[in-house]
Amino acid sequence: MEATTDTYGKPARILHGVSALLIIAMIPMGIVMTRVGDGGLKTGLYRAHVAIGLVVLLLTLVRVVWVFVGDRPGEPPEMPPWRRRLRLGIHIGIYSGIFVLAISGIGLLIGSGAGLNPFSLDPGVINRDLLPATTHWVVSKLFIVLLVFHVAGVISYHRSKGDVLSRMGIPLLRTREANLD
Ligand code: HEM
Repeated sequence: MEATTDTYGKPARILHGVSALLIIAMIPMGIVMTRVGDGGLKTGLYRAHVAIGLVVLLLTLVRVVWVFVGDRPGEPPEMPPWRRRLRLGIHIGIYSGIFVLAISGIGLLIGSGAGLNPFSLDPGVINRDLLPATTHWVVSKLFIVLLVFHVAGVISYHRSKGDVLSRMGIPLLRTREANLD
């Protein structure tokens, strides 16, 4: 489906949906893996986190290209200027956050001498004294805050102004107005 003035096209919807699911999985994965004791679970979670992180990085690069070459709908209607600025800032923050997380994650692995192959990664070699480790830790927390603001902003707009979730093909919290068609 092509993007229209009201909705995102199918490629943008799929990229958004897959990236969102992977990122939502990565956060608890990252938090648990750094806190469980050594063993198979820790190693498996580290390997999965890095593998999925690299996929999220690739998807995000494609999404950034798509922002410029793909069709996009206009801004949601009836959005006051302060909210437009906040929306833009949160979007830029989320994209930047993904790149900083990916770069710091990759930097941490290379700096620790762990290599970039997720399937042979040994969490025991990771050096948490390195700057990329601190960066990844801090930015991952700021990133969680941004995601909460993003979801809260979308839901509040959806409930007060109209069906904005269906622009991204998300069939949740359908408004009465949207159910009529
Ligand atoms: C959207 C992308 C990403 C998110 C949201 C994310 C999130 C997280 C979180 C929440 C933690 C736990 C931090 C803590 O509380 O100690 C973590 C740790 C970690 N992440 Fe990521 N991450 C992402 C991408 C990546 C990528 C691309 C890589 C590597 C290629 C990576 C490698 C690591 C490593 C090695 C750790 C463990 C750090 C340590 O042992 O202290 N992450 N990540």
